[in-house]
Parts: sequence; structure tokens; C-alpha cells
Amino acid sequence: MPQTVKGVIARAKGAPVELVDVIVPDPGPGEAVVAIQACGVCHTDLHYREGGINDSFPFLLGHEAAGVVEAVGAGVSEVAPGDFVILNWRAVCGACRACLKGKPWYCFATHNAKQKMTLTDGTELSPALGIGAFIEKTLVAAGQCTKVPAADAAAVGLLGCGVMAGFGAAVNTGGVGRGDSIAVIGCGGVGNAAIAGAVVAGATTVIAVDVDDRKLEMARAFGATHTINSAAGDPVQGIRALTGGHGADVVVEAVGRPETYEQAFYARDLAGTVVLVGVPTPDKQVTLPMIEIFGRGGALKSSWYGDCLPSRDFPMLVDLYRQGRFPLESFVSERIGLGDVEAAFEKMHRGEVLRSVVEL
Ligand SMILES: NC(=O)c1ccc[n+]([C@@H]2O[C@H](COP(=O)([O-])OP(=O)(O)OC[C@H]3O[C@@H](n4cnc5c(N)ncnc54)[C@H](O)[C@@H]3O)[C@@H](O)[C@H]2O)c1
Ligand SMILES: [Zn+2]
Ligand SMILES: [Zn+2]
Repeated sequence: MPQTVKGVIARAKGAPVELVDVIVPDPGPGEAVVAIQACGVCHTDLHYREGGINDSFPFLLGHEAAGVVEAVGAGVSEVAPGDFVILNWRAVCGACRACLKGKPWYCFATHNAKQKMTLTDGTELSPALGIGAFIEKTLVAAGQCTKVPAADAAAVGLLGCGVMAGFGAAVNTGGVGRGDSIAVIGCGGVGNAAIAGAVVAGATTVIAVDVDDRKLEMARAFGATHTINSAAGDPVQGIRALTGGHGADVVVEAVGRPETYEQAFYARDLAGTVVLVGVPTPDKQVTLPMIEIFGRGGALKSSWYGDCLPSRDFPMLVDLYRQGRFPLESFVSERIGLGDVEAAFEKMHRGEVLRSVVEL
């Protein structure tokens, strides 16, 4: 029997979110219904609401979540009812050209549930990142459920998006390791996760850049060795000054704007790596001198979901968290209800939080 549950939707570009009834079908072949326990508010949810991702309104928001599998459809063997899972938004296919080359974190054919969740009038919803988890129960592809050891859902659910993306941007995409220098531009949930990841990986110079001193204070707590307020001075000069005049081995851009991407480009050392994890809106453009692209060498990379492999990285990070070696709980700024998402967007906009987490 399809179930009617409460969920948070963005009905139109820029309109405040609404808590409405949503119809969730029974899981079909390869699908699962998950009872959500917690879901973080990510900047990407706000991008959806602002029309910055695409125009497929209404969106069912929320995508950074953990919960318990309630039911599975035919042919599902990877998870079973009762399993505690983190939802991922890149369910690997195993058969595309990236998967066949042994690089499943790049999977070019990730998949979501085939059936649609709807409003009570039958209007089909577009779940954010194929998840839609500001809701009591959601329908996903079974491959979007990654089983992990039991832990605080509000903390580990953040691995479902922002924290994984930031950690992976530094460690997987940027390849930061022992003794490296890294600068992270934009220290929200994603950027601070890049900082915490770089610390775990053994980076010795960890430079946090933001326009907001509160975020820089948080970055210190996550292990940044230096901070730069880029509203007060040129961050490129600042990063170079802290790295012997050269620039950082890896610079992570976690804002998604042309000016911060250009800062990242010029703030890395020769043969260094720029990692773009911030998501630009489609109107953004950068212009760079081609001779500098050549002459500086190294790599300009993008980080899809931190180039993570959920089955490998989620349990590993939950283990590190449970061992007290990765401070997931420090990303949880506040625990809120389903009706508080709009207020959480406001707090995010004002820079007051790393993550507001909806608990159900
Ligand atoms: N690549 C991925 O897979 C992935 C996953 C999750 C989120 N994201 C993206 O990462 C970005 C960050 O997400 P978040 O949830 O951390 O957002 P957030 O709003 O919590 O953080 C953004 C931070 O950037 C800072 N900032 C803004 N303008 C700046 C500037 N000019 N210079 C320096 N800092 C500046 C803000 O003060 C804030 O601290 C967003 O674009 C989001 O869509 C990407
Ligand atoms: Zn694939
Ligand atoms: Zn997200």
C-alpha cells in the first residue's frame, strides 16, 4: 500500500519551502523505502530552491540522510528491512565504462528509484539528488542505501553529502597526504570537512579561507593551522606567504564562484592541484590565461561527491568517528524539526551554522 507521509517541498523558484503530504509508493524491483531518522540541510538544497540546479519543480528537498530500511522490492539483496543505512546520491551501476575500468567512484550511469513520489493530486516530485529526505519515509534505489554500524543518525547522515564531499575533495580528489600543504576556500560544512579530512590524512599546513570569521574559528577547531579572512586581504598573497612564497600543494574551492576559483588557481604551487567541489550555477564563467594553465602544470580537477565510493568510504568514516578520530558530531550545529527547513536556510545564509540537521 502506498503511504502518505509529511515531506518538505520547494514548489517554485525562490518560494518558501512547504511541509506537505507526499505519497510514497511501495518499493518496486531494485528499490527500497527508508524511514528517515535525520537529514542535514546542505547548500545544494538551497540551490535547488533558487532554481540554480534545474527547473524540475516541485522538488522534494533533503539528501544528506541516515535512517532504517523499512521495506525492499523484488531482487534486492544488498540491504534488508531493519538495516541502518546512510543514503548516497551516486548509486554505482557496475557496468558503465568507468565501472568497467575499475573506477566506480566516477560511475557515469548512477541510478535512482524508477517510481515517483507524488503530491496527493498526483503531481510528480523531483527528489533532490535523487533522494528527497526531508520526509518521514523516502523511496530510493536499493544501491543508494549504504549499510553502516549503528551511530548517531544526525552525525553520520552528514556523510551522505557535504562531509563526504569535503573529505573526499581533499583526500580522494586532491590526494592530500602526509606533509602536504592545503588551502581550503569556503569553510562551510563542505570546506570544514575538507580541512578535517586533510588533518586525518597528515597534511602539515592547513590554511582555511573564508569571508566570515565565525567560519574561520570553526576551521581552527577542525585543525586548520592558519586562517585568512579574504574580505580583509588578498588570499592568494596570504596563502603564498604561508607556504614559503610558493602556494599550496592542493587548493580546494568549496564555494562555487568564479572569483574563488581564480583564487584557487593562483594560490597553488607549481604542479599543484586545484579541486573544485563548490557547485557553480550555470551562468558562471571563468577566464584564465592559457599560458598560466600550461605553465603552472599540475591538475585542475572537479570533485563529484568527493569522488567517493559509498560502500568503501561511509563505513570507514563511521569507524573513524566511533573511534574518536573524525569529529562528525562537530558539524551538527543544531537539531531541528521538519517544519524548520526554511529557517535553517536563513541561518545558513547568515553564516550561523555548519549544518542544521532535521531529526524525525
Ligand atoms: N561537489 C559536491 O559533490 C558537493 C556536495 C555538497 C555540496 N557542494 C557544494 O559545495 C559548496 C559549499 O557547500 P556548503 O554546504 O559548505 O555551503 P555553506 O553555505 O555552508 O558554506 C559556504 C561557505 O563559503 C563562504 N564563502 C562565501 N563566499 C565566499 C568568498 N567569496 N570567499 C570565501 N568564502 C566564501 C561562506 O562564508 C561559507 O562559510 C556549495 O556550492 C554546495 O552546493 C558540492
Ligand atoms: Zn557505472
Ligand atoms: Zn548536499
